[in-house]
Amino acid sequence: MQGEIEAIVSSARSEIASAGELDALERVRVRFLGRKGELTLLLRGLKELPAEERPAAGQALNRAKNEVEGLIQARREELEEGSLEVDGRWDLTLPGRRPHSGSRHLIHQTIERICDIFHGMGYTRADGPDVELDALNFTALNFPDDHPSRDLQDTFYINDEVVLRTQTSPVQVRYMREHTPPIAIVAPGRVYRQEQPDASHAAEFFQIEGLFVDRAVSMADLKATVLAFVREFSGEDEPRLRFRPHFFPFTEPSVEVDLWWQGKDGKGAWLEIMGAGMVHPHVFANCGYPEDAYTGFAFGMGIDRLAMVAAAIPDIRLLYDNDIRFHRQFPG
Ligand code: PHE
Repeated sequence: MQGEIEAIVSSARSEIASAGELDALERVRVRFLGRKGELTLLLRGLKELPAEERPAAGQALNRAKNEVEGLIQARREELEEGSLEVDGRWDLTLPGRRPHSGSRHLIHQTIERICDIFHGMGYTRADGPDVELDALNFTALNFPDDHPSRDLQDTFYINDEVVLRTQTSPVQVRYMREHTPPIAIVAPGRVYRQEQPDASHAAEFFQIEGLFVDRAVSMADLKATVLAFVREFSGEDEPRLRFRPHFFPFTEPSVEVDLWWQGKDGKGAWLEIMGAGMVHPHVFANCGYPEDAYTGFAFGMGIDRLAMVAAAIPDIRLLYDNDIRFHRQFPG
């Protein structure tokens, strides 16, 4: 009797496991537990056994019946879960396909970060057009007529009077002509120069202009502002900064600012991050401000450069080649 029960249970196990759909499972159930099922018949036959064998056989049979019932129930649940298939075409149990959600370009993420930091210092955001008057891109900014930047080799000319702006500095003029100080603005945007593209040059790139004008603004204010910005941007409390004397037609004195950037690979380098200086009195005059009324500072930063060092990007062209595999690395 024991042997017979074990043989039945073991064939029930394998048939339940291989029942591929609910109908087949039901047939298995009938075969073992139905009115004429193999286990049912054995149970019914108990009373024909000698009285002393009955209790042990009864227990074994009940255990077998419970096990088979349990296995069938478990298998039924499995099959029911998997049976959401509708007429064979849709498998609703497949995991969903995540829709591709885009993200902002790394340059724009960097612009937002920079603007946020200046916003915290009370600056607002200003804008100017990419297609700009020569008079604002150069003349009002105190560039002499023969300045080399005006050269056809450096500037894209639309016609004699209109250029693709080579810098964001004309936004200074536009803003000052419309507003009286105090002024605190940042103006991010695209600029254009006739460059031979290579790993660090592109014919279009991004700058962010800063302008602060009030009474009695000094070079110390410029340095403190740059320091506050770089602290936030780099996350370092005591960043190493270098202010080198320089020349720009629209600031006097002028500087270039270098930041010591410690790469993740342990190598460090001085990195030129901006041009800056005290707004030239001729620029104030060209904006219609009364003589000697105001002082201020201006700065212009290369955004691409900052984005590249912060994200360890080796070639500026990667930012402009539209390769989605590159941009997906910067979901932001
Ligand atoms: N416009 C300058 C450039 O493109 C940068 C600059 C901005 C310098 C403001 C001084 C003040 O190089």
